[in-house]
Amino acid sequence: MIDVRDIHKSFGDAHILKGISTTFEKGKTNLIIGQSGSGKTVFLKCLLGLFEPEEGGIAYDGKLYADLSDEEKRDLRQEMGMVFQGSALFDSMTVEGNVMFPLEMFTKQSKSEMKERVDAVLKRVNLIDAHHKFPSEISGGMQKRVAIARAIVMNPKYLFCDEPNSGLDPKTAILIDDLIKEITEEYNITTVINTHDMNSVMQIGEKIIFLKDGLLEWEGTKNEIFKTDNEAVTNFVYSSDLFKKVRQMYIQEQN
Ligand SMILES: Nc1ncnc2c1ncn2[C@@H]1O[C@H](COP(=O)(O)OP(=O)(O)OP(=O)(O)O)[C@@H](O)[C@H]1O
Ligand SMILES: [Mg+2]
Repeated sequence: MIDVRDIHKSFGDAHILKGISTTFEKGKTNLIIGQSGSGKTVFLKCLLGLFEPEEGGIAYDGKLYADLSDEEKRDLRQEMGMVFQGSALFDSMTVEGNVMFPLEMFTKQSKSEMKERVDAVLKRVNLIDAHHKFPSEISGGMQKRVAIARAIVMNPKYLFCDEPNSGLDPKTAILIDDLIKEITEEYNITTVINTHDMNSVMQIGEKIIFLKDGLLEWEGTKNEIFKTDNEAVTNFVYSSDLFKKVRQMYIQEQN
């Protein structure tokens, strides 16, 4: 569980996060939604410890980040998996090399132990025959699977995903969303996902927070989001993304 307590983050004069408080529970897919520029990525980077808020704090399973020693911070980072926007795989490494990378960096496992673990997570994301391929040789959807496999290879307690299905066709996007949700439940991970995709909201929005201009404008579940009369939220929900959903339903009907 992650407990966010009134965090503020500025860059120079630009006050980006203006006091956000919320909680993200274990075993749940928590979504952060909001318009472009609302502060989603900055917020996610605060959760990852890449940015330290000037005010407020973040507690991970009861431990306040600011109170941790450098060593404890390092240990905590190793309990975090991250799926970056656009997958961010190493082009010069094979699929296997990409997934093995965190194990090589942070553990003292033998080559055969690492291989066994890599095989297991690649199997978990339904990639069986891609070990020796390079990222450029596989589809965007497969690249996302590799990125997810790499993010979970260290058995993280926390999983952060920035727009994990951007650039994918709607069907593949849903498969990726479902995979993240299944993994979250199976391994009881506290998962936080940035998205501006209403499909994802409908598919996996167990808890949703809506950011607007660096403030938490609304929070609730996927069922509540269609009932709220918060104007900022309804403007977001019924923007052109709705047409994407209609299109996706149409495509599903065709298949
Ligand atoms: N390192 C940085 N230095 C200065 N300003 C930054 C930095 N990172 C982000 N910002 C600013 O913070 C604001 C929020 O950016 P952020 O990337 O969090 O938006 P976002 O909600 O993720 O948008 P998108 O949906 O387009 O990804 C923007 O105005 C951006 O210019
Ligand atoms: Mg962003």
